[in-house]
Amino acid sequence: MNIVFSHQADELAATARKIADEYVRPQAAKHDKAQEYNYEAAKAVADAGLFATFIPKRYGGSEAGILALARVTEELARADSGFGVAFAVNALGSFPIILGGTEEQKQEWLPKIACGEKFVAFCLSEKYAGSDAQGLAVTAVEDGDDYIINGEKKWTTNGGIADYYTVFCVTDANSKSRRISAIMVEKDTPGFSVKKIEDKMGIRCVPVVETHFDHVRVPKRNMIGGCPGMGFKHAMATLDHARPGVAAQAVGAAQGALDLALVYASRRKQFGAPISSHQMVQQMLADMATETEAARWLVYRAAAGLDDDPTDATNSKLAAMAKCYATDNAMKVATDAVQIFGGYGFMEDYPVAKYFRDAKILQIYEGTNQVQRMVIARHLTRTVKNLGHLDEFIPTETQLTYTEPGQAVVNQNT
Ligand code: CAA
Repeated sequence: MNIVFSHQADELAATARKIADEYVRPQAAKHDKAQEYNYEAAKAVADAGLFATFIPKRYGGSEAGILALARVTEELARADSGFGVAFAVNALGSFPIILGGTEEQKQEWLPKIACGEKFVAFCLSEKYAGSDAQGLAVTAVEDGDDYIINGEKKWTTNGGIADYYTVFCVTDANSKSRRISAIMVEKDTPGFSVKKIEDKMGIRCVPVVETHFDHVRVPKRNMIGGCPGMGFKHAMATLDHARPGVAAQAVGAAQGALDLALVYASRRKQFGAPISSHQMVQQMLADMATETEAARWLVYRAAAGLDDDPTDATNSKLAAMAKCYATDNAMKVATDAVQIFGGYGFMEDYPVAKYFRDAKILQIYEGTNQVQRMVIARHLTRTVKNLGHLDEFIPTETQLTYTEPGQAVVNQNT
């Protein structure tokens, strides 16, 4: 498969880098400390048309694709991981509509997201349902032409900022495979409220909240896809499309931390020479750069696969691989960057500490890295049948049973 870097994607990435340098990086420490959203940078992103990247053309988007989205996200996260997710979560919240919405729903919601007029949040996780995304408790019950939603969602990123909330609810508690549905809730709907704005270790410039639903009445036409029971599949397909975006945040974060460590190591002198000339620091810098480049190309591969054929079953595995590898790498690179800064790295006076704090959540949200490994392993074991030609090289049960020379082999299966 070819990974194609379109001129359009190059331009979008260059625009994102410019915005990151001008509006994101200079404000990152201030917004982190105050836990404030960077509206100025979000406006610049909207004005530059970057929210349109992931939206199809017929709904006001630029249809630049998942690879372009990953590159834009990477550039923004390189300056501030928190702003990277504040941007990318709009794609996460939109994918259920793009992948599963009706024509009418796409026409109603997507153009306003594409132009940056409306922000989106994705409400899946709950207090008792994180990795086990089927174990939801929030309910939506039919009432005439409406659904009534009750319950609480946890860790809603963009909560309070967003205008649209894609909410995953139980609509048929007795069904195993059609238990869940996705329903769009608009922020001013009576009974909907944002509570407990979390005080977080990292990504502090983007709000993460609880969303509460107290007899929230929404019209049936807000049921994504029109018919109930498709919610879990929509959630899984959405995560397959969005995980390369988290991986891209991680590549950006790793590159940002590496850039700082490299500059510091070149300036900081110990034993009469810049520490970048000491071999142990050189080894760290070399590994940080090599593994970040490897992560970047895994992200590009996963994203290009989704652009090439969104129905290909291997997309799910590659998205999980990219998310897992790139986010583990971001944590490692940010840790090593702090190490290279020594005592200064431990202080909040310099941004490198923030890269370290921000990196941790990347290994947790949009599926923990344990869940990613589960997805990868399940895919591998499902496709083992394609390796039947290797059977003759694998010991049979009989071969595994030790027999004394001359003793007859007893086949225990007969
Ligand atoms: N695409 C489409 N359908 C899929 C699918 C996929 N990738 N994966 C599974 N399905 C379907 C299966 O085919 C199956 O369908 P049938 O019932 O018709 O056979 C159904 O979904 C159930 O599949 P599984 O039995 O594999 O599901 P499971 O309960 O074992 O769960 C899981 C699998 C991978 C662990 C899943 O629950 C998961 O991904 N959990 C993590 C959830 C997560 O990522 N949460 C993050 C929240 S969002 C967030 O963090 C965002 C933020 O704020 C920034």
